[in-house]
Amino acid sequence: MSETRERPSAEDLLDWYDRHARALPWRVPPGSGLPADPYRVWLSEIMLQQTTVAAVKSYFEAFTTRWPRVQDLAAAEDGDVMAAWAGLGYYARARNLLKCARVVSAEHGGRFPRDHASLLGLPGIGPYTAAAISAIAFDAPETVVDGNVERVMARVFDEHTPLPQAKPILTGHAAALTPDTRPGDYAQAVMDLGATICTPRNPACGLCPWRKACAAWAAGTAADLPRKAPKKRKPTRLGIIYLARRVDGAWLLERRPDKGLLGGMLGWPGSDWGEAPVEDPPIPAEWKTLAAEARHTFTHFHLRLTVRTALVPMDRAPHRGDFMPAPDFRPADLPTVMRKAFDLAQGS
Ligand code: ADE
Repeated sequence: MSETRERPSAEDLLDWYDRHARALPWRVPPGSGLPADPYRVWLSEIMLQQTTVAAVKSYFEAFTTRWPRVQDLAAAEDGDVMAAWAGLGYYARARNLLKCARVVSAEHGGRFPRDHASLLGLPGIGPYTAAAISAIAFDAPETVVDGNVERVMARVFDEHTPLPQAKPILTGHAAALTPDTRPGDYAQAVMDLGATICTPRNPACGLCPWRKACAAWAAGTAADLPRKAPKKRKPTRLGIIYLARRVDGAWLLERRPDKGLLGGMLGWPGSDWGEAPVEDPPIPAEWKTLAAEARHTFTHFHLRLTVRTALVPMDRAPHRGDFMPAPDFRPADLPTVMRKAFDLAQGS
């Protein structure tokens, strides 16, 4: 940093936040004086992991309408929560969400603990989420570092070390800037700056409250930061799935085991996923194969599913899964890859 450049000031950022904070359903507007609801802060932070604000909004509204307090969520049926989460992805989050709600309800009297160590002891709460809840719900001076904050720090300090190697350096910068006054608003202000001004591409530096303090702005490198180590190529796995419909309209579905990918979610029975999937039809039938495959990309691999369909008589028994009567079946309760297969079958 050159000697004349200003230090980025939390006060300047908070002034900006007071004028430009995004209105988000889980957020208490700055200056409202209202306390944040730890349940809503926790729920939003779990939903926002690996997911965009745009994708989360409708899920957040649906969850908080149906389960307004942590005790309500704790008392929900597992299948209802998994179905409500369907489409958000990373389903281990939903299983831990329910576990966490039950622990908070049963062991903490329905109140989220305030201290960092107790928060970290709850299912599904890691260092990021514990810091975010402490800061946003309880206004504790914790440092909250998500992808937005990393980008802002890399630019303000013109840090060229690539991610993920740069993480501790960027966290150090973020910690040094975190103020003791309004740390909750400050945490959300850095996130908003990253989401609306200091964006990955075409950052709006002209509107930035930290422009004069920004080393990357001075160096003209903002748009090139943060640098990232090259990503590994994802392998492709293959599988076969079986959509059996009984003549009364019921669908043959199977709940996936809690452990593993799409754990706890309802789906179509199928083969294992790998290089050379082996046929494993859940019920004897005359299977037809759809012309198109269902394709989906997970964190570590691409998946291509061959979709087979069949119409089966009433007296035919499956050896895997259960028939779900047509009125109970909602495609929206399926995880996205299973939903894609259903949509293909409907269109065929
Ligand atoms: N991303 C993660 N947490 C967030 C929050 N509280 N507000 C906006 N974006 C976020």
